[in-house]
Amino acid sequence: MGKKIVIDPKSRLYLGIGGSTHDFSACLLKDGKIVSAIESERISRVKHSLDMFSPINSSIKYLLPQRTKINEISSSDILNIYNWYDYKDQIKFYNHHLCHAASSFFTSPFKEAAVFVCDGLGSYNHTSKGYEYETYSYYSAKNRHINLIKKNVGFVNEQLDETHVHSIDVPNSLGLFYNTITKLIGFGFLQDGKTMGLSAYGNSNKYYKQIIEYFSFKPSGIINISFGEKEAKLFYEQNNRYKSSKTRLEFHANIAASSQRILEECYFYCLNYLYKVAPNDNLCISGGVALNSVANGKITQNTPFKNIHIFPACGDAGIAIGSAYLSYYKANRRRVLVKNQSPFLGKNYSKSAILSALRAKRVKHVETTNVYTKTSKLLTNGKIVAWFQGRSEIGPRALGHRSILVDPRKRWMKDYLNKKVKKREPFRPFAPAILEEYVSEFFEKSRRSPYMQEVFTIKEPMQKFIPAVVHVDGTGRIQTVGPDNEKFYRLIKSFYKNTGVPVVLNTSFNVNSMPIVETPEDAIECFLQTKIDALVIGNFICTKTNDNRKTNK
Ligand SMILES: [Fe+2]
Repeated sequence: MGKKIVIDPKSRLYLGIGGSTHDFSACLLKDGKIVSAIESERISRVKHSLDMFSPINSSIKYLLPQRTKINEISSSDILNIYNWYDYKDQIKFYNHHLCHAASSFFTSPFKEAAVFVCDGLGSYNHTSKGYEYETYSYYSAKNRHINLIKKNVGFVNEQLDETHVHSIDVPNSLGLFYNTITKLIGFGFLQDGKTMGLSAYGNSNKYYKQIIEYFSFKPSGIINISFGEKEAKLFYEQNNRYKSSKTRLEFHANIAASSQRILEECYFYCLNYLYKVAPNDNLCISGGVALNSVANGKITQNTPFKNIHIFPACGDAGIAIGSAYLSYYKANRRRVLVKNQSPFLGKNYSKSAILSALRAKRVKHVETTNVYTKTSKLLTNGKIVAWFQGRSEIGPRALGHRSILVDPRKRWMKDYLNKKVKKREPFRPFAPAILEEYVSEFFEKSRRSPYMQEVFTIKEPMQKFIPAVVHVDGTGRIQTVGPDNEKFYRLIKSFYKNTGVPVVLNTSFNVNSMPIVETPEDAIECFLQTKIDALVIGNFICTKTNDNRKTNK
């Protein structure tokens, strides 16, 4: 693409670039606030932006349709530069874990906090012992300052380049340990969420002792982990006596459960160490491991932390946000912190843009003045509804702006949605979105958790009211919805008025292996190609004609 950016120190706009070798993204920051952000996968329609030549440019084009003046461009120092040639000499690079820490702390509601960053691997140093990669880091943060306390590292002999970065084997990494397990039981790169979902079906005692042998906990907050790909393969061969697909799934579930237990032990060990060296009620977490919502849901029981913030884009896409904040606060040392960053950062699509997309695909639609009542009625009638409202959410979770919604009282919906709509494995759970004022009625914990980052236990007597969102172990990955998420809140309120249940099933608006829809055109295409019954986009309610139905039988 032609150059769209002019560097001008007088500009108030900061451009952050996110990603590493995957999950590329871009954001714009103005006056201490992220004003827009997008993950490249939403534009390119290639999940995690893997195996692409230049995915970052598409994000820039989305955020900056015209030539624009920018104060500074920033990213982390492990950005795969082959994915972005145009401005490589003009980017200000920061340490990868520091960018993660900034993305978490500066988006939080806290003026001070302890910060934990935990991912596969981050920035590296070349030392006499080899290449030293950061694996997790402890920080304390106050006002505009984020101070490194300590980090764990793993050494490898060779520098890893982008050609084999997807099969790296760095020790002492919790993210890579979990990813090794994910691959071992047959899931793909960056599909750790499947391992987490499957773990609820297994026995966590089964392989715990065999795997924990490879973990050594030091009193200084450091864990030595030597369970690499070689050890994992050996473990698998020694224990694999399962021939049928049913017993093999059980075997895999037991591996997943044992590994999830170990991950949680390590996580809480690290967080307790962090509290010791940076005591604070407030905790911010980021890095890919922060997507482990099962572990996140247990933090307050297992550590002294009281308040937790995990921004939805806590993986490498959030590097854009963290690096932009670092640039901004470096240049504006006296600025007051802007807090409570919204995650709804995509473009707003106008009514005329929506209408022209609907007309172009000849989609049957009616405009309504009462979108909440009409949509909640569709839900109570057992319809699968795609809900497209306002600006898209950053991060891998749909938070009610690009969601597929159904009535959670219908038990059969879970299997139907997995098999017929999302085309996913039958063991994968769906999330409950609940009006925040009713959390304590349904869940054993009663606090806000607006970003679907924590799994809580659903109270046993309430499980029968919402069976489609109860996982096999009686839990649900909760999203509390308040008036700040206005349209989604009003819709669930209307559903509550009809049914007495303040919960809807909320899953991302996509099918398996595809990114969440971004534009009205993506939404219409997904709607027409799946068994979704209705698409509610702005104030338009769209249903299928017989011709549409024939195409997705
Ligand atoms: Fe990372």
